[in-house]
Amino acid sequence: MPLASSKALLSLAADLLEHVKRPIGVFDSGVGGLSILKALRAELPFENFIYVADSGFAPYGERDEGFVLERARAITRHLIRQPDLAIQALVIACNTATAAAIHLLRQDHPELPIIGVEPALKPAIALSQTGRIGVMATRGTLNSQKFKALQASLADQAQFICQPCDGLADAIERNDTDQITALCTQYTMGLGRFGSEPGAVDTLVLGCTHYPFASQILQSLLGPKVHLVDNGEPVARQTRRMLTSPSMDATPGQCQLFSTGSSDLLQSAAKRWLGLDVSCRLL
Ligand code: DGL
Repeated sequence: MPLASSKALLSLAADLLEHVKRPIGVFDSGVGGLSILKALRAELPFENFIYVADSGFAPYGERDEGFVLERARAITRHLIRQPDLAIQALVIACNTATAAAIHLLRQDHPELPIIGVEPALKPAIALSQTGRIGVMATRGTLNSQKFKALQASLADQAQFICQPCDGLADAIERNDTDQITALCTQYTMGLGRFGSEPGAVDTLVLGCTHYPFASQILQSLLGPKVHLVDNGEPVARQTRRMLTSPSMDATPGQCQLFSTGSSDLLQSAAKRWLGLDVSCRLL
């Protein structure tokens, strides 16, 4: 083989290797996106991940869209530009930030695969027998155009009863079990009667990535027959489909954790919920 083409081949191989080692960026306002990271690690065990909890600016759900958009832009720029981070794809592990920012982030970074999260209304329709579906989410998600359009597109298939859950993500963030229980009790009561008989809500969409970490409490309040639906697994499958160069290296992927707020909080949540024992750095 001529020297020039073997050099070109070597440089291509080096580029490729560097590319396949690039991590997937995942961010949320706080620890909630760990529920998505958990599903991502199960689906893509050989990929490296960088998780950013924007705890210094949380919660997002009770802020205006412009604020959330600016935070999403700042985190994305950081993850792209730092040479030691340089992500190959971005997962917005937050319903509120997806609703506020995904279309603009895709415009800003057309070369970057960007995957978002939205309340799992379609999977809920498939599970519900009564056709009455509760949706717990942040005020920001429920008020967004994106969510309203999704809900309207499915309005002929089920009845959705939506409950904004102010304070719940924050209580989960602080792992305050008493407050989580009190808010879950209040908000599920706001959704009306649960059960499998006609007219009752038999399926509950957890439309904020923090809420799967309250699912034991919710299930014990509502009984074992009510379906709780979140989006972790579908998002992980979609991420796999969107990767342009998945890792070819069959060694377990690594996770790096960053926080703009309390690193202790993220570190202990990752250990508690994912069994992930890595130290967390400040961003
Ligand atoms: N975990 C986020 C979501 O999925 C938002 C929580 C918050 O910061 O209010 O919407």
